[in-house]
Amino acid sequence: MRRLVSFVAVLGVVMTASGPSAAQALVDPASEKRIDALLAQMTLEEKIGQLNQYSSNLDLTGPAPSAGDQKRVYDQVRGGQVGSLLNVVGADATRRAQQLAVEGSRLKIPMLFGLDVIHGYRTIFPVPLGEAASFDMALVERSARVAATEAAAAGQHWTFAPMLDIARDARWGRVMEGAGEDPYLGAQVGAARVRGFQGRELGALDTIAACAKHYAAYGYAEGGRDYNTVDISESTLRNVVLPPFKAAVDAGVATVMNSFNEIGGVPATGSAHLQREILKGEWAFQGFVVSDWGSIGEMVPHGYVENLEQAARAAIQAGSDMDMESRAYVPHLAGLVRSGAVSEKLVDDAVRRVLRVKFKLRLFEDPYRYSDAAREKQVLADPRHQQAAREVARGSIVLLKNEGGLLPLDKAAKRIAVIGPLAADKDSPLGGWRAQGQDGSAVSLLEGVKAAVSAATRVDHAQGAALTTGRRGFVYELTFNTSDRSGFPAAVEAARGADVVVMALGEDAFQTGEGRSQVDIGLKGLQEELLRAVLEVNKKVVVVLMNGRPLAIPAVAESVPAIVEAWHAGSQAGNAIADVLFGDTNPSGKLPMSFPRSVGQLPMSYARKSTGRPGQVPLVFWSHYTDSPNEPLFPFGYGLSYTTFSYSEPKLSAPELAQGGELRVAVTLTNTGSRAGSEVVQLYVRDLVGSVTRPVKELKGFQKVALGPGESREVVFALKPSDLAFYTAAGLFEAEPGAFRVFVGGSSRDVKEAGFTLR
Ligand code: BGC
Repeated sequence: MRRLVSFVAVLGVVMTASGPSAAQALVDPASEKRIDALLAQMTLEEKIGQLNQYSSNLDLTGPAPSAGDQKRVYDQVRGGQVGSLLNVVGADATRRAQQLAVEGSRLKIPMLFGLDVIHGYRTIFPVPLGEAASFDMALVERSARVAATEAAAAGQHWTFAPMLDIARDARWGRVMEGAGEDPYLGAQVGAARVRGFQGRELGALDTIAACAKHYAAYGYAEGGRDYNTVDISESTLRNVVLPPFKAAVDAGVATVMNSFNEIGGVPATGSAHLQREILKGEWAFQGFVVSDWGSIGEMVPHGYVENLEQAARAAIQAGSDMDMESRAYVPHLAGLVRSGAVSEKLVDDAVRRVLRVKFKLRLFEDPYRYSDAAREKQVLADPRHQQAAREVARGSIVLLKNEGGLLPLDKAAKRIAVIGPLAADKDSPLGGWRAQGQDGSAVSLLEGVKAAVSAATRVDHAQGAALTTGRRGFVYELTFNTSDRSGFPAAVEAARGADVVVMALGEDAFQTGEGRSQVDIGLKGLQEELLRAVLEVNKKVVVVLMNGRPLAIPAVAESVPAIVEAWHAGSQAGNAIADVLFGDTNPSGKLPMSFPRSVGQLPMSYARKSTGRPGQVPLVFWSHYTDSPNEPLFPFGYGLSYTTFSYSEPKLSAPELAQGGELRVAVTLTNTGSRAGSEVVQLYVRDLVGSVTRPVKELKGFQKVALGPGESREVVFALKPSDLAFYTAAGLFEAEPGAFRVFVGGSSRDVKEAGFTLR
């Protein structure tokens, strides 16, 4: 076997990085001077206008609207009362809206246009949870880069992404928007996405400002129910929830969005602890904080304030700079300042932050620079973006099971049956939050399979059963098909005698996303029944899952030989899945979130605490369920390949690590199979004793390594004391001396371990 030179990864130091590069720094002296000059000219009302954001589908083609909300927004834009609009779409519409502000208002301050560009603008990439499964930061960055290029060409300045909420409860519908359960992976992905959106320098014409959201702890909603209460300790907040946000700030993220939830009895929007002390204080964040949609006003139903005026006061004092659609700042802030209830200094600081981002985007040089219809047309049609979507989708796919080497499939097979509610679906693969992705525009699995196979292969398709009935779409509740089995016989006929059955099961695009929490995270509707009917006539079934959250599918996992987790994979879904099914791509994704056996195990994470009763004992008195194992169905970090890998025992450069020192953890990875493949080598540690107890394992590094058949490579991680630091009982970020375990392997479960002491 060949041995290649080893290469060393220096681990990302999540909490102590030195801050954004000069290019991404938001403060520069020249703009600050111009901001001073502007502030000196602005009336109080004009200042407050900069803090006001409306959602608008302004019809700007005709004459000024004569009545209603449209007229109000129109007049306020011209009156300098609107700093930003969201949901104005396209180069032409943004140009015309900008004209209203620049030509109509006294100080001609350009507006910021924002949109939820979550996983692509026109070209749709896999849902972010899927992208995180690639464990490939170059791929993640590339996806955001393409999204920014398209959005910036279409008049957008700003995306409300990345979502950085750590999510350990798959009932929560928004898990699809984030990077899953782990703070280290979340920080890496968050920083990569910020780099992707903001490019090398924010203000270049193919970049848009990013927004780290939802600050904070939105993903910890009780029971996984969206918008629900959060009550977590300062330790969980600091050690689990905040690291991705800190990483985004260090990567130079221009804006942060606060969150709907309360945390420990205080709505995040009204939390000075989160926004002033930590974000703007400890982390010295220089950009601005936008509220979540209506979250200032929602402090009233939260029971935190009595009315919108008090909400405005609580929000500005806590550090919420821009009011998204609560319509609280414009009517109330001026009065609060004049009565002395709110200091004008707070307003000035908020305005300065908003203007900083506008300067950084160079909107004062040319307010229309992003709104170029010719560029929009050309960029949105760029075929390289589709190619990128296919590559990112391939990299996101996780092989969960492959008994007897059923996969990859033979392109020259005589007959392949493609079955299931999602088999020919051209819409669900786009997932939720598809920005300007056109409905029904994805390559379906059926199309992908047909395009891949030989001319001699017959591809039979049968849906079997629809997943949903009736109306579907972003704002509507879904209803599932639980009774129409009329398509079953055709599906069974297609499966009978086929060389292999490819069965597309999973979730509708709108089963995940905002407001889409579920108490049951199995396969909805008739899907399992259909699968059983097919298995009766043909056991060679490959289940392709298309979904936006981990699914609890123990029966499916038992009954079929092969499972491919494809997520909602975007515009090129079908082609990318076919690349994997037929072996043109060897899958290399790993789960960014544990797949539970049942919803009753949630919330769950590999990075759990030990408890005082961790072990299995003969009596019942240990921390477990009596009707289920504790372990997930598929653990965090898990994913197979068409080849196999073996790991040597990890070798440490020394038994001890001194403060200021470095410990090298080396492992030899060997491709023991007959195909080239990539493996995500994962490094975990356990701090055995802490002033605040530490998880039984914490991811501290990973490297994706490509090896040819039979090839070996030494993979080395360099651990520093700062990598072991956490927020201690004393409220300090530091590593506590003592004994550690270190684990290396191909998932959070399958590891080899060693030990060392931190002096
Ligand atoms: C969501 C945000 C989103 C905003 C604007 C809110 O309902 O929580 O994530 O950015 O709407 O669309």
